[in-house]
Amino acid sequence: MESNVNINDNEKTILVVDDSRSMRLMLEDHLSQKGFRVCCADNGRNALDMLGSIRPDVILSDVYMPEMNGLELCEALHVSPEYTDIPFVVMSTENDADNMKRMMHFGAAAFIVKPFNIEQLMITLNTIFSYEFLILLKEKERLDVEQRLMLAGIESLVRALEARDQYTRGHSERVSIILSGMVKFSGGSHYEEERARLAGRLHDIGKIGIRDDVLLKPGRLTEEEFNHIKGHPEIGASILKNIHSISDIIPVVYSHHERMDGKGYPQGLSGYTIPLWARMAAVADTYDALTSNRPYRQGMPHDKALEIIDQASGPQLCPSCVRLFHEWCLKEKPETFLHR
Ligand SMILES: [Fe+2]
Repeated sequence: MESNVNINDNEKTILVVDDSRSMRLMLEDHLSQKGFRVCCADNGRNALDMLGSIRPDVILSDVYMPEMNGLELCEALHVSPEYTDIPFVVMSTENDADNMKRMMHFGAAAFIVKPFNIEQLMITLNTIFSYEFLILLKEKERLDVEQRLMLAGIESLVRALEARDQYTRGHSERVSIILSGMVKFSGGSHYEEERARLAGRLHDIGKIGIRDDVLLKPGRLTEEEFNHIKGHPEIGASILKNIHSISDIIPVVYSHHERMDGKGYPQGLSGYTIPLWARMAAVADTYDALTSNRPYRQGMPHDKALEIIDQASGPQLCPSCVRLFHEWCLKEKPETFLHR
């Protein structure tokens, strides 16, 4: 992807995002005097809308704003390939370490602590327009492209698995919808929701290493066959282990067959030592297994599946995740769209 930042172009555009009118006027006045083109938005939502028609060289954003705050804006830009290369400068207050940390995670380029004077801001902007910074920006773009290609490669693997196994075809997608829905419902951010969606898609990727005669067997599995299929979480984790950008997803792939009583696999983890999203995925996985048609039986109705999930709550499934799932079901009514 080409960066639109041009170090020979003196008239750079800065998008100022701040709900304080006086702050916007002050910055517009000072930055215009320094030769910048300045556009202003009073919250993150309006800034995002403006990006449809302008392409700023830097976004200078406040943190606390109505409608969409600076953290949410930073996150939205981070997950949009077309905006991820625009340097994002945060105007924060001194005691905002938590937000700073989260925004760094979402790729914020710099922080400037309020109150600041225009000369301090110019130092920050000069750093951002410096040659070294542009090199770093190029490197970030390269890594972003690499990461997207890697994810596209993994998506192809999922498709290869789904082409082999009819059951897995809709299963990963449905687990992905349920898991991301639960994460969002429990207050997760847009970024976390997207990660959960990917985790759902990938949770059974290890089945690619399972023999056809076991994976596609319509009837009951022998002990040897069951032991073979139990290897899929480890195979999945080993396929993904070298991809740094999805290290947060591997626990779901590795631990989605653990049980609360410690009788699951592959590690026999118990209780809350099982990672949270893996416990949520186990509920989603169980619900989908119960409600899906198999060659040897019809899928169960929604209410019956919920009853069985309730019986499994405690020894097998995490009670808090089961409760969360019930609440999500009441709101979203998955029975009306998942198997249509
Ligand atoms: Fe699985």
